[in-house]
Amino acid sequence: MRDNNCAKIIIFVPSNHYISMEKPHKRYLVTSALPYANGPLHIGHLAGVYVPADIYVRYLRLRGRDVLFIGGSDEHGVPITIKAKQLGVTPQDVVDKYHELIKESFKNLGITFDVYSRTTSAIHHKTASDFFKKLYDEGKFIERESEQYFDPETLQFLADRYIIGTCPKCSNPDAYGDQCEKCGSTLSPNELINPRSALSGSKPEKRPTKHWYLPLDQYEPWLREWILEQHKEWKINVYGQCKSWLDGGLQPRAVSRDLDWGVPVPIKGAEGKVLYVWFDAPIGYISNTIEIRPNDWELWWKDRETKLVHFIGKDNIVFHCIVFPTMLKAHGGYVLPENVPANEFLNLEGDKLSTSKNWAVWLHEYLKELPGKEDVLRYVLCANMPETKDSDFSWKDYQTRNNSELVAIFGNFIHRAIVLTHKYFDGIVPPAEALTSQDNEVLAQLPQFKTQIEESLEQYRFREALKECMNIARMGNKYLTDSEPWKLAKTDLKRVGAILNTSLQICAQLSIAFDPFLPFTTAKLRSILNINIQPWEVLGTPDLLPAGHQISLPELLFDKIEDDVINTQIAKLMTTEAPTPTPTPVYEPQKDQCTYDDFAKMDIRTATVLEAERVPKTDKLLKLTINTGLDIRTIVSGIAEFYTPEQMVGKEICILANLEPRTIRGIESKGMILMAKQQNGVIRFIAPHEAQGPGCTIS
Ligand code: 2FM
Ligand code: ZN
Repeated sequence: MRDNNCAKIIIFVPSNHYISMEKPHKRYLVTSALPYANGPLHIGHLAGVYVPADIYVRYLRLRGRDVLFIGGSDEHGVPITIKAKQLGVTPQDVVDKYHELIKESFKNLGITFDVYSRTTSAIHHKTASDFFKKLYDEGKFIERESEQYFDPETLQFLADRYIIGTCPKCSNPDAYGDQCEKCGSTLSPNELINPRSALSGSKPEKRPTKHWYLPLDQYEPWLREWILEQHKEWKINVYGQCKSWLDGGLQPRAVSRDLDWGVPVPIKGAEGKVLYVWFDAPIGYISNTIEIRPNDWELWWKDRETKLVHFIGKDNIVFHCIVFPTMLKAHGGYVLPENVPANEFLNLEGDKLSTSKNWAVWLHEYLKELPGKEDVLRYVLCANMPETKDSDFSWKDYQTRNNSELVAIFGNFIHRAIVLTHKYFDGIVPPAEALTSQDNEVLAQLPQFKTQIEESLEQYRFREALKECMNIARMGNKYLTDSEPWKLAKTDLKRVGAILNTSLQICAQLSIAFDPFLPFTTAKLRSILNINIQPWEVLGTPDLLPAGHQISLPELLFDKIEDDVINTQIAKLMTTEAPTPTPTPVYEPQKDQCTYDDFAKMDIRTATVLEAERVPKTDKLLKLTINTGLDIRTIVSGIAEFYTPEQMVGKEICILANLEPRTIRGIESKGMILMAKQQNGVIRFIAPHEAQGPGCTIS
């Protein structure tokens, strides 16, 4: 096993702050946590992991470094099986759906993975299986038999989440075997009072079962040296969490589970057991590398001149700093991460993001509802990135940052420079013949900005780097305002030319500096400036636009965001539903039998919502105008707590068309919308699986 030891100078500066200035590595292997494919992405994922990772790799690529950016979906684990059970589908159905949605959303936000694969792929199953087998064959695991809860009715061992009982801390009767959602305590199934199986409701029995454990305790001295001594430059939040784990003493960790969803444990006698999801998921980084670099993947993972960096959220620190490195060390031959720049959490409007409570801004919805504003989101998430402590996203702040920073500073400077060049020089870059000390002073600052931005990015301080980019635009704006070329146009056109040449050079500089952060905008800016993408190295050398170069017509880089846009988003959050159901399958009892004739009397058909509005003075009712294929009619429906009128327009729904009309709040309602009601009261409308158009009958 060779640990990375590329040339590195570590300078200790007071206040416990380390600056690491590294010689470039031969190659950079950058991974970002594989998101679970059991739900869509939200802004917390983006701010925590994917936006910083993408900025970092875009920066490295601009510098001409050899980079691989590895992503993919984490498709195993108990939560996915729970989601599948809730939905009445297979785990494969769940991951197929979300893998595609996640992959598409990443692409549309400009997250530039070199590979985005999945842990259900054959290549991953083989890689993870071989990895386990090697450690097993070399005796690196401890084998232990322990007593675990077993459901005598469904004849299976129960994952912690599948055991429900009374919380010993707060008496909540529905606490899970790993956590009580009422008081937040972390639990073990043995602590639950009166445990019952979430699958059958029956009383679980203890039965012996064998598992394999990674003896982290044996690696503790090595981990202490490697992290606490050799990686003092890691972010303080990451270093601190590792130290507290190590100081608390490490225990062996089970790397297998009794479950039927995952990578099967590849040894005899292990039928019905799979690798623990946290054992196989990080191996996904390796599998995905193999997928795109089948011939030289080992160079990326085993050559000491590779710099491996893991981008993750804070809940993943122990797995990436302690467990996975121990797996790699035990296996031998692999490089170890040089850095794990984990972020803290992003809150939303002052409250913790919660997927189960739908307290989130979902990426796929954002992209649909605010098209063309990909960079605004990237900007706001980077400007507020939870780098060392939790931070907050609010829609008002989003609006202010767009209007007062992107529009008023960056966009405004570019627009002024371009418009003035068209006004006085027909869009042709004028010569810089009459430069004064004022111009030279501005130009002289550019190399300093470059150094500052590089230093910040190399140390994973993305907020600071972005601020510096904006400072270049600020400087440009101030320069243009102070030098007032419009006042000189009649008397000294040469001087105007010098000022505009200087301004345009700053515009070109901005197209490079902002490129890792706002790639859609810089592409637009390059097209306005009529230039190709430039390498990072020319940042600080303000001579990219030769005199005589023709630029394109002005175009706004950003639009002002009005209050109504923000208010719609806030209103959408405020109508957010109650927590999603617990996995306890307590279903409504079946109704009395009916005959086929009873059923056949019902005219159920598809319809499309044309218009939707709230029924005045009610909280629950929406008045919907729908096209049934037969006619255009009105239905009043009690769904306003769960859907806004905006969300309903254009939706395909199913209705009971021949229900006797009723007058509700003075409106005649003809028919009923079919809804699925979850166990916690949340309702969802039923739609055809694929678009059918109105008027299809359902039988
Ligand atoms: O926390 C999570 O979302 C995990 N799915 C991250 C896995 S990262 C890596 F190990 F794959
Ligand atoms: Zn509790």
